[in-house]
Amino acid sequence: MRDLKGKQAVVIGGGSGVGRGIALGLAEAGLDVVVADIERASADAVAAEVRERGVRGRATVVDGTDPDSLAELAHTAVSAHGHVHVLSNNVGVMIDRPLTECTDRDWAWGIEFNLMSIVRGVAAFLPHLRGAGDEAHIVNTASLAGVLALPPGPTMPVHLGIYTVTKHAIVAYSEMLRGELAPEGIGVSVLCPGMVKSNLANTSARNRPERFGGPTKEPGPPPPEVESMMMAPETVGPIVVAAIRENRLHVFTHPEARPAVEARQAALLDDFAFAASERGRGR
Ligand SMILES: NC(=O)c1ccc[n+]([C@@H]2O[C@H](COP(=O)([O-])OP(=O)(O)OC[C@H]3O[C@@H](n4cnc5c(N)ncnc54)[C@H](O)[C@@H]3O)[C@@H](O)[C@H]2O)c1
Repeated sequence: MRDLKGKQAVVIGGGSGVGRGIALGLAEAGLDVVVADIERASADAVAAEVRERGVRGRATVVDGTDPDSLAELAHTAVSAHGHVHVLSNNVGVMIDRPLTECTDRDWAWGIEFNLMSIVRGVAAFLPHLRGAGDEAHIVNTASLAGVLALPPGPTMPVHLGIYTVTKHAIVAYSEMLRGELAPEGIGVSVLCPGMVKSNLANTSARNRPERFGGPTKEPGPPPPEVESMMMAPETVGPIVVAAIRENRLHVFTHPEARPAVEARQAALLDDFAFAASERGRGR
């Protein structure tokens, strides 16, 4: 989708972090942006930043896990600005717990917020993207954790089991969706960022619904030595814009993660080599 100027984007979970970076990047590329978030004040602040870039910016409250709320958002966006050309799905939660200790409610929370928010966002907006009359594009935010499976480490001393499983699901969902929508001219990308400055641990804690266990204590900001390694959200936006223009499938923000992806691929291929050698022995 090369011609972005004057088009309209909706960024769900756009009030902070990665979503804010995407909203600002799209605004700089000349799109009007609806900033939708569960937190009104954050959405308002980012919509104001969007307007500072000379395009229309509108803030709307949405619960990105609720089909009715998403349908209302789609209606508002279409009534206010006409068609929707770009949909960016950013709702996500970080769950720090070893898989062996996760409860059914932890799993339900992770699946609902990380995966189903995207599935439902696409379902709510697809009729409007189809109605745009020319190209349209969907960007689903996964993570590097969608293509890697990493244990806790010195810079990320957290147990990201459910997070990793659900982010892999988003990558697979996006790859399959891309195949289904390509004949209609609708592009699909999946954003796989490394560490980006954001409020994820805190928004996850305070927005955890009662049905999934209720809010928990906010952990506060990461230690300065970790925060200093994180990418600014403003850097993510232009990368996403470039990916939309070129209709790239996987959108990586941290090329330095390539060796880890190669190591994972190598391990996968090694298991194929093992299978081939076992078959060769007639087993
Ligand atoms: N920050 C990182 O290092 C990083 C890395 C890879 C992927 N991601 C992914 O980026 C996405 C955004 O996370 P972030 O790190 O920018 O966190 P963030 O907390 O800064 O931003 C998330 C936004 O989503 C909003 N939100 C939460 N629940 C919502 C709901 N039900 N409906 C609508 N809005 C809701 C929050 O209020 C917040 O404004 C997530 O999917 C996350 O997994 C983040």
